[in-house]
Amino acid sequence: MSGLIKSSLAKKYWMAATGLFLCLFLVGHLAGNLQLFIPGEEGKIQFNEYAKFMTTNPIVRVLSIVTFASVLFHVIDGIILTVANKKARPQNYAYSKPSKNSIWTSRNMGVLGTIILAFIITHLSNFWYKMKFGSLPVDSAGYTDLHGVVMEAFQSPIYVIIYVVSMVAIGFHLWHGFSSAFKTMGVSHKSYTPLIEKAGYAFSVIIPLGFALIPIYVFLTNS
Ligand code: HEM
Repeated sequence: MSGLIKSSLAKKYWMAATGLFLCLFLVGHLAGNLQLFIPGEEGKIQFNEYAKFMTTNPIVRVLSIVTFASVLFHVIDGIILTVANKKARPQNYAYSKPSKNSIWTSRNMGVLGTIILAFIITHLSNFWYKMKFGSLPVDSAGYTDLHGVVMEAFQSPIYVIIYVVSMVAIGFHLWHGFSSAFKTMGVSHKSYTPLIEKAGYAFSVIIPLGFALIPIYVFLTNS
């Protein structure tokens, strides 16, 4: 295999590129899901029509394949890099004080990533799998009623807690990952870097908060 994929520098580069693409996915996914705040039958039909568009439009289907490939690449490269870092890091030396030399999130990207992966698997089996392979009822306009599946899932306090805790993990993962990805890709400048860091911190709070509010809202308004 070529050095373009195999070297550890190339792996970091692909982690950064796929990570930034997944950030774009999160923005689009949150924007679409904000329609879940629209109340009543109108909100239901609008969301189901949107879900139909997202699963049938050819351009979105290509983006969807790129999203799944990015998740896979990000996870595999992440595991390889975490294992390599663990092997290379000096352990148990008196002078090795990781907590003083780096922030908690940067040292725990692997643990946070594992929580996020567990969330994605649960999440896809909750919604995406049911939409693609389940036999769901239709709404009053004839669209497959994915809205009903989401409303039903978030009646469960366990799911609401799983979603909220997972969004906290995503927030911490992005807190380090967002600006780190730009550095890895060579975007480093004394006037832009502080701006990118601030944008990264804002992104890592606003996006997970937006996602977390959805199950909380559905739970509070439907039970
Ligand atoms: C409250 C928060 C969320 C809700 C209500 C939600 C809802 C949904 C629904 C209904 C689908 C299936 C239909 C569609 O593709 O739009 C879906 C797919 C998906 N979701 Fe979420 N989602 C949430 C958060 C997230 C988060 C935080 C992530 C990533 C960390 C994520 C990753 C995905 C992925 C990868 C798919 C498959 C997309 C595709 O087919 O291309 N979701 N989500």
